[in-house]
Formats: sequence, structure tokens, C-alpha cells
Amino acid sequence: EKQGFKHFMLKEIYEQPGVVRACLEAYLNDQWEQEELKIQNSKFKTQNSPIRLNLPADFYTDLQQIQIVACGTSWHAALVGKYLLEQLAEIPTQVQYASEFRYAPSPLTPNTLTIGVTQSGETADTLAALEMEIRRRQALAIDYQPRLLGITNRPESSLGDLIPNIIDTHAGIEIGVAATKTFSAQLVAFYLLAIDLAYHRNTLAIDQLEKLLNGLRQLPAEIEMILESQERYIEELAHNFAETQDFIFLGRGINFPIALEGALKLKEISYIHAEGYPAGEMKHGPIALLDAKVPVVTIAMPGTVFEKVLSNAQEARARDAQLIGITPMDEKDAEDTFDTLIPVPHVDEILSPLVTVIPLQLLAYHIAARRGLDVDQPRNLAKSVTVE
Ligand code: M6R
Repeated sequence: EKQGFKHFMLKEIYEQPGVVRACLEAYLNDQWEQEELKIQNSKFKTQNSPIRLNLPADFYTDLQQIQIVACGTSWHAALVGKYLLEQLAEIPTQVQYASEFRYAPSPLTPNTLTIGVTQSGETADTLAALEMEIRRRQALAIDYQPRLLGITNRPESSLGDLIPNIIDTHAGIEIGVAATKTFSAQLVAFYLLAIDLAYHRNTLAIDQLEKLLNGLRQLPAEIEMILESQERYIEELAHNFAETQDFIFLGRGINFPIALEGALKLKEISYIHAEGYPAGEMKHGPIALLDAKVPVVTIAMPGTVFEKVLSNAQEARARDAQLIGITPMDEKDAEDTFDTLIPVPHVDEILSPLVTVIPLQLLAYHIAARRGLDVDQPRNLAKSVTVE
């Protein structure tokens, strides 16, 4: 069943190009570009979005806010989602831990879409937060009606029973307790949702839209390239960290949640203490933790925050920390900054999380495997957390 892989987690990491492809194929409208050209020649805007999510029309009317509830890795996917929904579709979006939201819910606002993200569809806190949200909205006036959406890998789950509108992430069953391919698939779902909403709200120019769609279609090949070219290297690199006690992961903007995800993966399966921070926050406290024994993994992708991230990494260098950079090849400034590079393909910053997360999953995996740990069944963890 492991098809020659030592662990399910590694097999699932390798399934990601196929999973991203499947999720895109399920929802991209391939005829869209032709239809759009025809429409551009007449004066009407097409009703055909490039994305086919099959959501009811009233999802799009007067939408003023989005709130997302989730736990763990799904919460990290939701943070990337917030970035996309705000930057592409211009909808104010809040992301809440389901376990916090239940006891301190945000004040109700009309025309709000609530999204629950859970790969298993069975996480107790996420389900309870959504049930509560449905109840409190139903108790109020009509414009507080719940608009609900579930993003899950298991539409036949309790989440599917609770919420009629579902984006199925098509990742296939995930056995490793550490979420990998289901995370990538959740990210794809958020790209599709944000593009669909941006399309309906007219917040993206047609050439930006086409660029994004083309970029998304290339992602499976980019992920394949990292797996092929970097896995061996990361495995060797991991040998240096089998005894390390603390790790810091840094990212900014759309890659801040990926820093959190890199740290969570490492904690879960290797039991090494790891923290993810927005790179700009380091100097407000955490930098005091650094010394030569604490490796700092920094995600530095060219775009809006590249130079800022490099200078944040240099602050860590001044504390003798060992600097590892997840960054594209041939970026001179990055080469000068980091002691060790894990090169990734050049992709647009906005699409980069699906690329930058791959080496972090591999790093966590190989460190844990090197330590001889039960990667697929880490201590104290269950695949779905059905207790509150
Ligand atoms: O099934 P869910 O997506 O709702 O699960 C949420 C978390 O329990 C889950 O992501 C957990 O953090 C994973 N072990 C992460 O690898």
C-alpha cells in the first residue's frame, strides 16, 4: 500500500502534483477563455466564471465579509485563504480557531459568508463552531441568514451533513497523521474560491486573471520539479539536525502561514520544538532566543516582501543562527544571505505557498525519519480530533 515508500507521509508528499492537478481539473472551466473572448467582442460580461464551484447565485450578492473557522493545518490553509480573498476579491476576511470562536464569537454582521475548513470533516471544534453560527444567525433577521461553505476532503462526512455547499478537495484518503496533500488541496480550493469571487465582483483585470490561471496550471510541474531535484539533498541536510532542539521558521505576507505550517509539521512528527513567526516580528522579542544552536528557516520569494525578508534574516545572522533559505535559484541577494539554500522554482509570489511548503514537509519528514520516529503515527496525535 505504501507503494515502495517507507512511510505513508512520504508517499502522500509525492502525491501532491497529482492532487493539485485533480483539484484544478475538477473546477477549472477550460472553455472559459474562448467564451470570454466572444463576450469581449459583444459588450456583455460573461456569466461564466473561469471556475465552476457550483455555488448558489446568492453567495455572490452583496457579500460584505467572510469568516473562516478551522483548526491546525486547516487553519493555516485558511490564513493563506484570507490573503487571497482580501487581495484578489477585496472581501474583508477573518480567520478564527474554531476552539476559540466557540466561546468568543465575532459580533454578527449581515451578508457574511462563514467557511468551515476541515480535511476530515469530523473535527469536533470546527463542527461545533459552525453549528453555533447557524443557530445564532437563524435566530435573527433575514439578512443574517447563514451563507455557509465547507472545504473538505470528505464530503460524505459530518461536515457534509451539516452544510449543503461543499468544495471537495479531491486529495484522496490521507493516512499519515501529519496533513500534507490535503493541505495543498485546501490551498487550491482557496485559490479557486478567491478567483471565482474576484471574477463575480470584477476586482481582477482579465490579464491578471489569465496569468493566475496559467500559473495555477503550471504548479503540478513545479512541485514535481522540487520533489525530483531536492528530496535527496534535503534528506542529507536533515542529518545535521537530528539532535537539534529548537527551530525557527520565518515568512511574511502570503508565506507567513507557510512558516507556521513548516513549524507545525516539524513539531508533530519529530518532537523538536519549532516556532513560526512573521519575519518582521522577530525583533520584537523572539530574536532573543537565537544563537548558533537554533537554525532559522526563512521563506524568501521575490515579490512585495523579498528585500524585507532578507534583511530580517540578516538580523538573525548577527545572532550566529544558522540560516536556511527557501528561495529561487540564482537570486544573488538570497545566495549572499543564507548559509544553506533549498532552491525552489521561480513562481509568482501569490502562487508560491504551494511551492514553498514542499521543502518544509520534506525537511520535517526526513528529520523525523532520521530520528527513527513513527512518522505516520506520532505520539499523542490522532488523524481526526473528535473530542472538544
Ligand atoms: O481534519 P481537520 O482538517 O479538521 O484537522 C485539523 C487538525 O486537527 C489537523 O490539521 C492537525 O493539525 C494535523 N495533524 C496537522 O498535520
